[in-house]
Amino acid sequence: MVKLGVNIDHIATVRQARQGREPDPVWAAVEAELGGADLITVHLREDRRHIQDRDVTVLRQTTGVPLNLEMAAVREIIGIALKLKPAMVTLVPEKRAEVTTEGGLDVCSRQTMLAEMAKKMHGAGIRVSAFIDADVRQVEAAKAVGFDLCELHTGPYALATGAGFVQLQHERLRLAGEEILNLGMQFNAGHGLNYRNVGAIAALPHVNELHIGHAIVSRALFIGLRAAVREMKLAIAESVR
Ligand code: PXP
Repeated sequence: MVKLGVNIDHIATVRQARQGREPDPVWAAVEAELGGADLITVHLREDRRHIQDRDVTVLRQTTGVPLNLEMAAVREIIGIALKLKPAMVTLVPEKRAEVTTEGGLDVCSRQTMLAEMAKKMHGAGIRVSAFIDADVRQVEAAKAVGFDLCELHTGPYALATGAGFVQLQHERLRLAGEEILNLGMQFNAGHGLNYRNVGAIAALPHVNELHIGHAIVSRALFIGLRAAVREMKLAIAESVR
């Protein structure tokens, strides 16, 4: 069964709109778990625009499923991750002005630094994932630096219009996924997935985890987070049946 990692950053975004205490991402994690989330994901950004240091500390102590910390490969956040010891970290590129993560991490151009960082994470018992574009060169670089998993960026697929272009993006994901598996890493995917487009991605051979945030939190506004997660689990289950 394909696993679902639920990204709860948007809950913290609403809280930060008033700089207050609610809604609390820690409560959101409980609701997501009750809906069937297999992992909880949060992105501790350098600018702390949504998730705060307190959130990751409390989530680490309270989540009943593995915690996936999304992060930039920068000294401050690496230090926090090494102390926090989440089950896994997912390295993403981070730009101050972006609305959400744009594009995958360029592993090829930072191999020495990323290899050192992966070694430190492994020393702390943390698995390392890279959020990368569906590009075989990036997959090979991820293997070379010692990463355990790759999360393929499904944004271009999600945004594609026209059957031919959608098919092209899907094929790129399939080929890059095949290479991840050939090289002995775990194949994850995410970004821009929703209740309508998740099926074709969940049906990719041997995809292990899908990481989804925006669509689930949007649906949760109308039916609650627990039910929204449950619906996504169903959408995934139906696609692979
Ligand atoms: N995976 C990664 C690496 C991300 O940065 C994000 C967005 O925070 C997601 C998955 C989830 O994307 P979405 O919110 O579009 O579902």
